Amino acid sequence: MKGIVFTEFLDLVEEKFGLMMVDTIVTNSNLPSNGAYTDVGTYSFSEMLSLLTNLNKETGIEINELLLVYGEHFFSVVEKSYSYFLKEFKDPIEMISSIENHIHVEVRKIYPDAELPTFTVIEKTENNLVMIYKSSRAMSYFGKGLMNKTFEYFNKKATILVENIQEDGTEVKFSIAAHG
Ligand code: HEM
Repeated sequence: MKGIVFTEFLDLVEEKFGLMMVDTIVTNSNLPSNGAYTDVGTYSFSEMLSLLTNLNKETGIEINELLLVYGEHFFSVVEKSYSYFLKEFKDPIEMISSIENHIHVEVRKIYPDAELPTFTVIEKTENNLVMIYKSSRAMSYFGKGLMNKTFEYFNKKATILVENIQEDGTEVKFSIAAHG
């Protein structure tokens, strides 16, 4: 997993819970990297899982809720460093349905060793989108956070339903209905 995912995560933990919490979860996670991440480095997903598990232990906040808030935060990284992606689209449904065949394809050019999920579009109309998310990292709520902010960015509202196809969250159905 790319270092930028870790550095932004620890920045968010510091912002929300303070520097002591960062120190506590890094220490308790026994990380091979010792928590010294660089944006362009590559690190094992198991380190992210340890950090999330320890933050859940310390705060009592569900891991999916932590991933959702982190996904919403990560959108500001996209806005700041990759705004050209956003400018290509006029509509949130168009953008979200283009993750697989365009956005993440471009991301892979920037980060050749990025570990990205797959999104398969099952249904798409002007205001509805059904997609299947697949990833061994089970970070669908990180994706939902990015989707929430995508609708906000385009000043639109939506209902985004996340249903597990695989109990462990490695395969999930997103049902998105834009309204208002
Ligand atoms: C609404 C749009 C998007 C959604 C729903 C989405 C979803 C996701 C998800 C769920 C992951 C976590 C990895 C996994 O589940 O296996 C991920 C990783 C990532 N995404 Fe996206 N993404 C979106 C847009 C973007 C954009 C615009 C960028 C541009 C920079 C981007 C860059 C990345 C990167 C760098 C990773 C981490 C890869 C790694 O650490 O190896 N994504 N994305």
